[in-house]
Amino acid sequence: MKIKSELSKIIENALNSADIKADEIVISDATKPEFGDYQFNGIMKLAKILKQNPRQIATNVVEQVDLTGMISKVEVAGPGFINIWLDNRWLSVQTTAIVNDVRVGVEQVEKPKRVVVDYSGPNMAKQMHVGHLRSSIIGDTLATLLEFLGENVIRQNHIGDWGTQFGMLIAYLEEQNTDGNTQELKDLEQFYKDAKVRFDESEEFANKAREYVVKIQKGDTHCLTLWQSFINASLGHCEEVYKKLNVNLTREDVRAESFYNNQLSKVIETLKEKDISTTSNGAECVFLEGDETPTIVQKGDGGFLYATTDLAALNFRDKELKADRICYVVDARQAQHFKQVFTISKQAGMVAEEVVLEHIAFGTMMDKGGKPFKTRDGGTVKLVDLLDEAVVRATEAIKDRNIHSKEELASMAKAIGIGAVKYADLSISRESNYIFNWDKMLSFEGNTSLYMQYAYARIQSILRKYKAEVTGDILVEDEVEHRLALMLLKFEDTLTKASIEATPHTITSYLYDLVSVFMKFYELNPILRDDIDEVTKISRLQLATLTGNVIEKGLSILGIDVVEKI
Ligand code: ARG
Repeated sequence: MKIKSELSKIIENALNSADIKADEIVISDATKPEFGDYQFNGIMKLAKILKQNPRQIATNVVEQVDLTGMISKVEVAGPGFINIWLDNRWLSVQTTAIVNDVRVGVEQVEKPKRVVVDYSGPNMAKQMHVGHLRSSIIGDTLATLLEFLGENVIRQNHIGDWGTQFGMLIAYLEEQNTDGNTQELKDLEQFYKDAKVRFDESEEFANKAREYVVKIQKGDTHCLTLWQSFINASLGHCEEVYKKLNVNLTREDVRAESFYNNQLSKVIETLKEKDISTTSNGAECVFLEGDETPTIVQKGDGGFLYATTDLAALNFRDKELKADRICYVVDARQAQHFKQVFTISKQAGMVAEEVVLEHIAFGTMMDKGGKPFKTRDGGTVKLVDLLDEAVVRATEAIKDRNIHSKEELASMAKAIGIGAVKYADLSISRESNYIFNWDKMLSFEGNTSLYMQYAYARIQSILRKYKAEVTGDILVEDEVEHRLALMLLKFEDTLTKASIEATPHTITSYLYDLVSVFMKFYELNPILRDDIDEVTKISRLQLATLTGNVIEKGLSILGIDVVEKI
């Protein structure tokens, strides 16, 4: 239910009846319960334009508001605000209508756009580490969310599979795999280290590595075969992590840096033709207004750079993928890079003016002491280790509870452990750095996935206890039911906001508020107690059912599983 736009229409009609024209009507959530459910704050602006007293205008408008449906009460407040209360009967009808809806009342967008979401993008010449965690899970949430809202989502995994390091890696692979056995690639971390040792100790090996870089670039079949098998193994490792993380990236979504290789000289040609780049100290550079350093697109030796590939990718995404919006879910430290390539691509006509380009930036993951996340001996933490530890810790947290089989415990621990890591990340406003804290993320209290999973499980247990099928209407009667029903109907507005701003934490904050209201409701309004009449019981059971459905949908957009009991 798009509550805000429905309210805007009602207010617009009231304004029309009061002979006032407004360009845009913005409805906001009321900041305190005594201000109602929503507020319209646009009167002051109108008063200035009309040169009239705001309170007088507000009073005129309030008299015209339709009180026969959605709204039960409107009031003039302060110097000229309008406070709005929603009607309990309306809330009853609307919530009842979506109890059994698989989309929990969320409509699909009318005009779907083509949205490219570029996320994860690990580098094949390095082990995937915690730094990739944020891109993978924020990006996946964004993609899932947009898809749920009905947009055409194109996931792109822009993996780093090209560059000088590969010469060393494939030369080492060749040295190790004379019999074609790729056993060494099982532990990539070790493989990189060993290759580097060889590179540093042997001049002959280092020369071969350098020679291989040139050979891959020239398309030498032998080197390319080695390179391909290395990339396959490396991607296989990433896919294990995706699977553990519930991240929906497949091979089809991979469009690697190497894919753009044959388009790079064209990029340079275009930039030269359009006089956007100039040669400076032998390198091809773009000097953008306000930038201290130029964007280098081709080095003196002819080599291309990260920016060149991104320009080719931008061109491809516009011309071939026909994107309307392109979202780059990448570390905030690359802000400058994206600002540059976005500007250049538009100047050069590689991307049409109307295409929306966004850097969905995120901060760094820190340890408890506020330092970038490292292992005790200072190395980078491997993502797989972190996720495995999450499951172990989750098992610890729930092992004393009423769980029967070992399998049950294992699947719950996975849902809870992985959910905790993801939720902790997604619930932070994405641009801030955040402190990784096991105890906090695996707590039953507060804004954690476990709190949501626990509420969901609790609801399922109530529904199981009722034993019969629940059919019947929701009747919103008291204050807490009013708040709960309203929260449930706010789901669509929440998802829309999260999709526009690309902010997963909008969803987690909503879930936290929803569950908090539900807990209050459950405390004040017992559901199954014997003295509760059947009509009331059904209404409360239906509110619980709908709450469960919304929690489940919300968590599934975040890529987190629910559990039926805890
Ligand atoms: N491989 C890059 C890195 O690890 C991320 C790629 C992001 N996507 C892009 N189109 N530049 O920094």
